[in-house]
Amino acid sequence: MTQWKHQHLLGLQDLTAEDIELVLDTAQSFKEVSSRDIKKVPALRGKTVVMLFFEPSTRTRVSFELAAKRLSADTLNIAASVSSTTKGETLLDTARNIEAMNVDLMVVRHGTSGAPFILAQGLKCSVVNAGDGCREHPTQALLDLFTLKEKFGRIKGLRVGIVGDILHSRVARSNIWGLTKLGAKVTVCGPATLMPRGIEAMGVEVCYDIRKLIKNSDALITLRLQKERQQDKFLPSLREYGRLFGINREKLAEGSDELIVMHPGPTNRGVELSAEVADGKQSVILDQVTNGVAVRMAVLYLVLGKHDM
Ligand code: CP
Repeated sequence: MTQWKHQHLLGLQDLTAEDIELVLDTAQSFKEVSSRDIKKVPALRGKTVVMLFFEPSTRTRVSFELAAKRLSADTLNIAASVSSTTKGETLLDTARNIEAMNVDLMVVRHGTSGAPFILAQGLKCSVVNAGDGCREHPTQALLDLFTLKEKFGRIKGLRVGIVGDILHSRVARSNIWGLTKLGAKVTVCGPATLMPRGIEAMGVEVCYDIRKLIKNSDALITLRLQKERQQDKFLPSLREYGRLFGINREKLAEGSDELIVMHPGPTNRGVELSAEVADGKQSVILDQVTNGVAVRMAVLYLVLGKHDM
């Protein structure tokens, strides 16, 4: 029996393969709850979960809130634009004041890498990282792993290509930690200017030829070009990026019909993916979003309960 031992979820770098498998197995048991007429179980009744988001979000914030509500927790949303950090209060002071109202868990998204670590060190309640700077987005990687396992029945041995702005991508980093720990073969692909030097030390291969990657992959995780984290110097133009690394029907046809295309969202249509690929039969983008609720239910349940399964 695997036991969950973590008060916080800050990144997949900190988890073992067994921890990750426990989250995926727990998510599997919660997935069915969202298809019921009454989408609720009493697992976290009486607990309070606060969403503290200092960057925009649609999928992550909404699915954490749905996950908490489906576990019967009380939820509260705090957007940075209406918090007292705009009046000069520090992030930790804001969080300590919220904690003083006896909340049990804070879900935090912040543009600064490491911000959830600072909160975890300074608070008594649990902290879950919903994306910090360029560092990690652990629940996105967990839902990607869940989706891969659902489609292929396994992670071990899968050939997964991660395509795009690897340099600025917290999704890429969390996926590399998670996929390599579970035995997938990971290849990263993108413009040389957006490829971190020494990325091979994370246990991945580097490829600059998207057609070769497509021919040799079971799944492609395509990444959003993060205009907010890069200056123009990294790319000649979006059109050039789309021509070289964007996935369209013609490039996709060079791979297996079983190849699946993933994207964490939001998608820049016509840049990372053509509309026909984003909406096509090999795309599992909306399955990823659906699975995000079950995975976040599992994370909240395990972190708040330190439950055995
Ligand atoms: N994948 C992801 O983090 O999407 P949001 O920014 O909409 O939360």
